[in-house]
Amino acid sequence: MNKGNIAVLLSGRGSNFDAIVRASRAVGSNFTVRLAISDRSDAAGLKKAARLGIPARHVDPRSFPDKAAYESRLGELLESQRIDLVCLAGYMRLVGPVLLGRFPDRILNIHPALLPCFPGLDAQEQALRAGVKVSGCTVHFVDAGTDSGPIIAQKAVALRPGDDLETLKRRILRQEHRLYPQAISLFFAGRLQIDGRAVIIKP
Ligand code: GRF
Repeated sequence: MNKGNIAVLLSGRGSNFDAIVRASRAVGSNFTVRLAISDRSDAAGLKKAARLGIPARHVDPRSFPDKAAYESRLGELLESQRIDLVCLAGYMRLVGPVLLGRFPDRILNIHPALLPCFPGLDAQEQALRAGVKVSGCTVHFVDAGTDSGPIIAQKAVALRPGDDLETLKRRILRQEHRLYPQAISLFFAGRLQIDGRAVIIKP
């Protein structure tokens, strides 16, 4: 099988990156993780990459004159590795027009809430504060907004009496680790069709 090539962009812990790599190594997977890129030198995800045997790069946005130049460099790196799909996983920057232009409809993100509820930072805390009974996680295509692109897949997580931020984060994260590889797999199976704001999952 001809497998799709993925790069993961991250800024921190890298647990979703880890889950994606593990899924890519399962029998029958249709994708391979070729590269991890972090905008932060201290991201634990870089050490995870070394342990997992995935090539990893730190690209420091501060060493470029502006975001466009930084993203051009990312684009070069990604294209040199023949990356088909860019997966943001705890990447704490908004993607700008340069990268979006180079990977149109080929950048995914995972967010720890049921979008369009609770976009942006601290989504789990927003959910707790709002007193909702159900939250969860969402995988979506990335557009120019904050967590606003077409939704591919969602998994609900019920809030339990006595939940605090840590317990809720943990339960949502467990679902993130399943949902993200599933969405990537649908992408490479050619089953995702963007239709305006929606994503149709073809049979
Ligand atoms: C996850 O909760 C993800 O949904 C959000 O950032 C967090 C990243 O965690 N976008 P990790 O670095 O994958 O462990």
